[in-house]
Amino acid sequence: MGHLQNKLLLITLLIFFSFHNLFSCCYSTLEESSINNPYYDTANYRMDYYDSLPYQELSSGAGPTSPERAFNVDDYGARADGTTDDRDAFLKAWNATCSSSSDSAAFVVPEGKTYLLKPLIFSGPCKATHVTVMIRGTLEASKDRSDWPTDEIRTHWIKFESVKNLLVQGGGTLDGNGDIWWQNSCKIDESLPCIHAPTALYFYGCQNLRVENINLRDSQQIHMTFGYCADVEASELTITAPEWSPNTDGIHVASTTNAHIHDCSIGTGDDCISIVNGSRNIKATNIVCGPGHGISIGSLGANHSTDHVSDVIVDNAMLTGTTNGVRIKTWQGGQGHAKNIIFKNINVHNVSNPIIINQDYCDSMIPCHEQKSAVAVSGILYKNIKGTSATEFALKLNCSKSVPCHDVVLQDISLEGEGGIPIHSLCRNVKWTAIGNIYPTCSS
Ligand SMILES: *[C@@H]1O[C@H](CO)[C@@H](O)[C@H](O)[C@H]1NC(C)=O
Ligand SMILES: *[C@@H]1O[C@H](CO)[C@@H](O)[C@H](O)[C@H]1NC(C)=O
Ligand SMILES: *[C@@H]1O[C@H](CO)[C@@H](O)[C@H](O)[C@H]1NC(C)=O
Ligand SMILES: *[C@@H]1O[C@H](CO)[C@@H](O)[C@H](O)[C@H]1NC(C)=O
Ligand SMILES: *[C@@H]1O[C@H](CO)[C@@H](O)[C@H](O)[C@H]1NC(C)=O
Repeated sequence: MGHLQNKLLLITLLIFFSFHNLFSCCYSTLEESSINNPYYDTANYRMDYYDSLPYQELSSGAGPTSPERAFNVDDYGARADGTTDDRDAFLKAWNATCSSSSDSAAFVVPEGKTYLLKPLIFSGPCKATHVTVMIRGTLEASKDRSDWPTDEIRTHWIKFESVKNLLVQGGGTLDGNGDIWWQNSCKIDESLPCIHAPTALYFYGCQNLRVENINLRDSQQIHMTFGYCADVEASELTITAPEWSPNTDGIHVASTTNAHIHDCSIGTGDDCISIVNGSRNIKATNIVCGPGHGISIGSLGANHSTDHVSDVIVDNAMLTGTTNGVRIKTWQGGQGHAKNIIFKNINVHNVSNPIIINQDYCDSMIPCHEQKSAVAVSGILYKNIKGTSATEFALKLNCSKSVPCHDVVLQDISLEGEGGIPIHSLCRNVKWTAIGNIYPTCSS
């Protein structure tokens, strides 16, 4: 009986809203599809689970002498003198942690010290069911680029691979010492070849992962990547690098499902958050971003690839002085889709291109020529986006002629030019609808 009543109520409401506002259909569909997503229950469940973990309260002095489940790097020979490489000690302590037969084991980096580290991998799977990595001190990357001799090693500085039920926390800092890499980037010195630089903190194939209260600075390239991970929570992260440092994205999400990034402050030389192929059910809330290139879906479709990203919510973000606000960027010639994406409650301060879809993205030395195929963009909601634009095109939806964007909803957009500069929009090859007041409104 209760079900029937609910259904009737729902139908009545739907009819009411359909008449009330011609476009509410699109908006409801979009929000509903995301809210009904089972992922949100999963996320809440996981938060409760972690709050009951015993290692939240570990003191900085915890070592093998306190509960045998904690493993302190100092007890495995780490010198922390800032000049000796401590990688071997870290790997020994990790091995002990990971192979511990206890239900939970903790890897501890004590407070107030600096550990120099060459690239290293903390691999799983672990025997311990739950692993906590408590970083209280500072980890500093080697400045010697020859410590990264091959392309494979160059993917990371510190990598966690195939570890389940992992919690990384502690208030410490990872310093990538990226300066030497930036100087040698082809984006800074065009005479040099383009090579990949390491991601400072790389999580690969980790399931049920929580990263919280960690500072990342001056990464060689991307600061933190989730690749092929599932059920991720990342919070209270502070990520900083100079505005000019090349490709130093804050948080990069690739082939990852069910992730919630929240309460993070990110200011770097590239995207604060970038979400790329294979990612689904990604939520970013309470994000402070800038300087940087904004919050991006993509880039997608590079080198004719087929890429998919769907079910993304960016809610409550403040962007200051970034070169883009909320962005979807795809290369010409790709395939696949970017769909069901919500950007809401976004405040921009002096941001260039606050709202932007560009299906002609080209981050290449060689100009990109026009191509027919494109990554399809649809089901995009921009809701309650306010603030100032540093550029003339405050709203730019530049979609491809052959694969137009569709089901784009603009709701309550209120932008003005920084310092009173006039602003416009550019909307090409896009099917959009409006709810509430939109300024600037979409025009071709
Ligand atoms: C790793 O730890 C296990 C168990 O403590 C031990 O038997 C093994 O020798 C260690 N391996 C290395 C490489 O340290
Ligand atoms: C895109 O992501 C999917 C799912 O993770 C993966 O199987 C595929 O290889 C990725 N494609 C490219 C071009 O990287
Ligand atoms: C595209 O492929 C070329 C050649 O393999 C490579 O050098 C380039 O980095 C790729 N571009 C992107 C954006 O992946
Ligand atoms: C706004 O941004 C532009 C460049 O993006 C910069 O030149 C200008 O100083 C900024 N204005 C304010 C008030 O911060
Ligand atoms: C829009 O995209 C087209 C390619 O499809 C490009 O030629 C044009 O410069 C873009 N316009 C703007 C304002 O970015």
